Amino acid sequence: MLHNEITKKNLKSLVLKFYAKVIKDDLIGPIFTDILGKELTNDTWKAHIQLLTDFWASIALGDFAYTGSPFAPHVAFRERLSAQAFDRWLELFSKTLHTIFEPAIAELFHVRGRNIAGNFMRNLNIH
Ligand code: HEM
Repeated sequence: MLHNEITKKNLKSLVLKFYAKVIKDDLIGPIFTDILGKELTNDTWKAHIQLLTDFWASIALGDFAYTGSPFAPHVAFRERLSAQAFDRWLELFSKTLHTIFEPAIAELFHVRGRNIAGNFMRNLNIH
C-alpha cells in the first residue's frame, strides 16, 4: 500500500529501497560500493542509511537529527560524477519514491531531489 503520510519510518523504507536499487546499478552502483562497501547490512552502510533518513526527515519533517554537510563529501569523487550519473540517481530515486508514497508526495520528493541534484551539479561544474 502506498503511503499518504511522511513519517521517519516511511523515509527509512524509502532510503533502504533506493540503495538496494543503487548498488545493483551498473553506472552509479560502483561509486557507492567502492566507498561504503558491497553489503547494505555492513556498519558503514547502516550509518549512511540512517544519515540519509535523517537528511530527508530534516527536509520533509523539520527533524533536527541531521547536522551534516550534504554537498561536501561529493567533492572527493567529483571525477566519477557526470550528468548521466545524476540522471540515473534521479531516475532510481523517482522509481523508488513511487513504490513507497502516493504520487503527490512522491512528486514533492522528486522535485526536491532534482533541485538538490541540480545544485550539486552546478557546484561541481557538471553540465
Ligand atoms: C550520482 C549522484 C550521487 C552519487 C554517486 C552520490 C554518492 C554519495 C556517496 C558515496 C556518499 C557517501 C560519502 C562518504 O560517506 O564519504 C554520499 C553522501 C551523501 N549524499 Fe550523495 N551521491 C549522489 C547524489 C546525491 C544527491 C542528488 C543528494 C541529495 C538529494 C545526495 C545526498 C547525500 C547526502 C545528504 C550525503 C551525506 C552527507 C554527509 O556526510 O552529511 N547525494 N553520496
